[in-house]
Order: sequence, then C-alpha cells, then structure tokens
Amino acid sequence: MKKTLIIANWKMNPSNTTQAKVLFDEVAKVLKDVKKAKVVICPPFPYLSIINNQLSLIKLGAQDCFWEESGSFTGEISLSMLKDLGCKYVIIGHSERRQFLNETDRMVNKKIKAALIKNIRPIFCFGESKKDKDQGKTQNVLKKQLENGLRKIIKSDVKKIIFAYEPLWAIGSGKPCSPEEANVIRLFIKKIITQKYSRPIANEIKILYGGSVNSSNVKSFIQQGSFQGVLVGGVSLKPKEFIKLVKNI
Ligand code: 13P
Repeated sequence: MKKTLIIANWKMNPSNTTQAKVLFDEVAKVLKDVKKAKVVICPPFPYLSIINNQLSLIKLGAQDCFWEESGSFTGEISLSMLKDLGCKYVIIGHSERRQFLNETDRMVNKKIKAALIKNIRPIFCFGESKKDKDQGKTQNVLKKQLENGLRKIIKSDVKKIIFAYEPLWAIGSGKPCSPEEANVIRLFIKKIITQKYSRPIANEIKILYGGSVNSSNVKSFIQQGSFQGVLVGGVSLKPKEFIKLVKNI
C-alpha cells in the first residue's frame, strides 16, 4: 500500500527549543507507528538537530536550502549540512519565500537540482495568487512555474520530486481550495509533466495539496482530490489537531 505523505511545515515556529521539543515529542509519541501515512516534519533550521536525535518513523525535512556546496555565502545552508542533520526532504520555492525574499523560478530550479544531486527529495512548491486566479491566469502561472522550476531536470530525476500545489489564497486563510477544483489542477500538473516528460512519469510522480488543510478536510483531498498527500502549516503546530489530521486520512 502506498502511504499518504503528510508534510508538516512549521514555518518560523515555535519560538524556542523547549517548545519545539515538546511539540515534536507530543506528535512523535502518538505517530511513531502510524501505518497509513508517512509523516515528514520540517522545523526551522535550529531545531533540526534536536529532532534528529529522536526520529522514529517520522522523517525530517528542511524548509529551504542553498544550491552551492560551501563557501562565502553568508547566512546560507548547504544540502550537505542538511544531510548531515538527517534531512531526507527539503521544501523548495514556498510562496512565502517567493513573496518575502524574492525567490525566483531560476533560484528554485537551482535548489531543486542541487537537492537531487545530494539525494534529498525536493518538495517543489508552486501556486497562483488570488489576483492570478481572479484574472483567469491560474494555468498560465502554474505552467510557467513548473516549466522554469524543472529546467534541465532529466526524466530519472523528475520522479524523485514531490510536487506541492499551494494556492496562495488558500494558505493560512482558513479557505481551502475545493477538492474538485484542486483535482482539476492536479490533472493539469500531470498534463504538463506528460508533455515535458511522458505519461508513465506523470503517473508516477507524487502531487500534494497545501493550503488550510485540517483534520476535517484532509480526507477530501486524498480521496476526492486523489492527491498523494498534503502539506500542512498552521495545524502542524497544534499537536492534538495534527494527530487527528494524520489519523483521519
Ligand atoms: P496553512 O496550512 O497554514 O494554510 O499553510 C500551508 C502551507 O503554507 C504549508 O506549506
């Protein structure tokens, strides 16, 4: 049975190591032997090492990376460093980084390629803004983000990428995309992958949904929306609610 992928993006939370440890421990003690889901926790960089010591079935991911291996890049974190801390996944191109840090498709593409070289699975995020949606530009915007993000990535590598559709207007708004609407986008993503690579590859890739996912709506994205998993922000900081979400898939 293929496991549903549930990725917790803690973003810039919680505010200290003690709280991070409590949050992780609460989730880990209940979810250590969940069978149906694969849970990945992506905490802020400073908490990676405390969590690394106690991993069970829960996997560790980072929220960003830099594409160079080492050198004079003040403030950046390499994939080797992430690997050393036990990261198996890395979120790349999250809309908050695109919005607040001017991360471009070109940078996203470089990061994805660097992660693939180091054998860390990239969680490639993309999505349209409310304005794009209102102007009927959703598919054009997604096509551009996908094509630019996947530049010069070969067939055998694209299968290792986890695609995460996160419409900006659904993130943190409490207003998720409807599963039907999300499914149309999921099929559109598969169409782009079929055109660029092949149908078998499009059928093999994992596509996740993110944006106001909670314990009540998670099932609809997995079952009606046919997504292979979800990316969870706010709810991943509430252990009881997050555990309920994982158990409700
Ligand atoms: P919310 O679940 O808080 O809407 O955040 C989604 C997200 O940005 C996950 O990466």
